[in-house]
Amino acid sequence: MKILAFESTCDETAVAVVEDGRKILTDQIFSQADLHAVYGGVVPEIASRCHVESISLLAQRAIEAAGIGKDEIDAVAVSYAPGLIGAVLVGVNFAKAVSLALNVPLIPVHHIRGHIAANYLAYPELEPPFLCLAISGGNTLLVDVKDYTEMEILGQTRDDAAGECFDKTARVLGLPYPGGKPIDDLSKGGDDSKYVFPIGHVADHPYDMSFSGLKTAVINLVHNAEQKGEELDRASLAASFTKAVSDSLVPRTIAAAREKGRDKLVVAGGVAANSRIRADFKAAAEENGLTLFVPPLRLCGDNGAMIGAQGYYEFLAGTRAQSDLNAFATMDLDASYGE
Ligand code: KG4
Repeated sequence: MKILAFESTCDETAVAVVEDGRKILTDQIFSQADLHAVYGGVVPEIASRCHVESISLLAQRAIEAAGIGKDEIDAVAVSYAPGLIGAVLVGVNFAKAVSLALNVPLIPVHHIRGHIAANYLAYPELEPPFLCLAISGGNTLLVDVKDYTEMEILGQTRDDAAGECFDKTARVLGLPYPGGKPIDDLSKGGDDSKYVFPIGHVADHPYDMSFSGLKTAVINLVHNAEQKGEELDRASLAASFTKAVSDSLVPRTIAAAREKGRDKLVVAGGVAANSRIRADFKAAAEENGLTLFVPPLRLCGDNGAMIGAQGYYEFLAGTRAQSDLNAFATMDLDASYGE
């Protein structure tokens, strides 16, 4: 079954064709990051307008690159939540029009379920159940994935997402947006014990996380140093900051996997590209006898293929949207469409 999949929840316009949830026939991505970099973050209206400009061309290119005719498309999948509402609306409306024109089913896909499904594309042997940490620019969630479409949220951030924390730390250090990769690069060779940063805990909710205290600690450190005219060791600051994020994520994820009795651990989302976090997960998984799955770098960030992968399993589970499908800025990952 071939699914034409659309992703437009933030600053990537992406269109893919995926076969049977596991095989990428094409994965076209247009990143707007350069457009937003001058503002230090995503400007929602610019993102929406840019999606409008690029989505038709990208869809045409995807069909050509997949080497298929329009009549070979069996269904259309679209990321309908969560995200920047104006941006999501562009993808949803375009996908509705395509599904109507081709007279094929329309499958709504939760964006974070898509990030999780990126791992199905990279690892043919991976099947639920497993424990998943989804870490992206807008979301940080610990999820028990019981089945392809049945999930339970065990914990989540109470404030900033992990990726947001990377981006804000990068900003205060004068690094470009998006800041995750520049911080990753800067941290290499730094001493991760030089600066001690707080790790957030939420009373009585061991799997919930908090990153705003860490963000404030970095901002205060940088501003204090500026006021006193002191030079900071930037590489060590980036390394110490990344260690604090990793220490906040890895032990919690391992504890959740043990509590749920899962032997497979999946990491998903843009922040899963971080080299320190990947290394810490690898070591922790080995130590605890867990099999670790982390997407290759090209599938960590937003892409259309992950929506096509999850779309396939949503289709098998009977999930269908009608012509009144709407876009949502927020949406629980564990809610089925229409609930
Ligand atoms: O999953 P994603 O592409 O978009 C959302 O769905 O939000 O994630 C983007 C986030 C950004 O915050 C970016 O700074 C972060 O992923 N990121 C990284 C790295 N590469 C991207 N964070 C840490 N280390 C990286 N190497």
